[in-house]
Amino acid sequence: MKGRREFLKSSGLATIPLLLPVGLTPPAAFANYTGKEENINFYTDGALTSPLEYVKELQEIIEKNNDTQDTYAKGGAVTKLEQKFAEITGKEKAIYMPSGTMANNLALKVLSEGNTKIFVQEVSHLYRDEGDAAQSVHSKRLIPLAPGRASFSFEELKEAVSYLDKGEVFKSGIGAVSIENPVRRADGQVFPIEEIRRISSYCREHNIKLHLDGARLHLASAYTGIPIQEYASYFDTVYISLYKYLGSKGGAVLSGDAKVIDQMPHLIKIYGGNMYQNWPYAAMALDKITHIEDTLHKAKTKGEQLISLINQSPNMEISRVPNGSNVFNLKVSAPVNYEKLIAHLKDKERMQIRTPDSQGIIKFFINETVLKRSNDSIVNALNKAISSSLA
Ligand SMILES: Cc1ncc(COP(=O)(O)O)c(C=O)c1O
Repeated sequence: MKGRREFLKSSGLATIPLLLPVGLTPPAAFANYTGKEENINFYTDGALTSPLEYVKELQEIIEKNNDTQDTYAKGGAVTKLEQKFAEITGKEKAIYMPSGTMANNLALKVLSEGNTKIFVQEVSHLYRDEGDAAQSVHSKRLIPLAPGRASFSFEELKEAVSYLDKGEVFKSGIGAVSIENPVRRADGQVFPIEEIRRISSYCREHNIKLHLDGARLHLASAYTGIPIQEYASYFDTVYISLYKYLGSKGGAVLSGDAKVIDQMPHLIKIYGGNMYQNWPYAAMALDKITHIEDTLHKAKTKGEQLISLINQSPNMEISRVPNGSNVFNLKVSAPVNYEKLIAHLKDKERMQIRTPDSQGIIKFFINETVLKRSNDSIVNALNKAISSSLA
């Protein structure tokens, strides 16, 4: 115990008021973000723009495209975005929604019809971070699988289904299965594709519907090399976020069969999500979606080189998350004051990193901002910041 306290003290960890849970940063931390074009951020999945940057980017986009406006999510950039998402996921139709929480819950509501049981990862956003919407608003019973782990196996699902089937006297049918990939609460780990394939064919054989919470699906695809369309092909519905790395400030798109998607407009309305105009969100994502695969591929390649350069540096060590995607574990081996380190990086080097966890591990996110400067200059900046914040 003393050893750990001493370590915290000498490493400056004790001076940090808030040690964040793994992979999570409270939304408030981003609210005051004052991005600058040349800023590099190692703490989120995408580039964060300040309000002013957002407005400027949006203006450029709108000057290039005059047909942007929608009315109640019909027409303009929203319709074009929906068509684009149907195309990239290979589904019949896609629909814009104001949030991923709504996309997940409405997808599962429709897919499960009158049945109540929905199998989910215990660490999923749906189970842990949606305010029990499925249970309280949609009367569904979420059944958590694989506690603390990113993925469950086909056998685990099959066993859970048969446990309920055999054990319940008053049977209620199986509604659906939801899979989050990559998994935010598990440092961006990806759900193994072989398991997705087995789960998907089992579900199809037993007429159990399958939903993909692919809020960050392009990240899974960039790091595994598995195309978006292949991922989507195993699922009945697929949700992708518009603001994780697609530049928007909110929004989601759900793709699936026409008979599912056509039920959504009415549900979006009655649950209060039918907003008058949505183009400021849709136009931004529409602009980014055409080159996101290329951008993420470049960021991944540059990130790999950066990781090996960091590991050649005597004061730092960085390792992969097993089955991971864009999140790495950075450790500073020199005894530094982390508050000073973070402030120095932000103010002097225009670089933002997360606070370390209680083990001194900094979750280090590779995103497109890594493309803004050479890897040598990034490593030099990190080393300079370490030297000037030694405890
Ligand atoms: C995996 C995952 N699913 C769903 C959501 C919900 O998205 P929204 O904030 O648009 O409701 C998030 C948001 O962080 C997420 O990370």
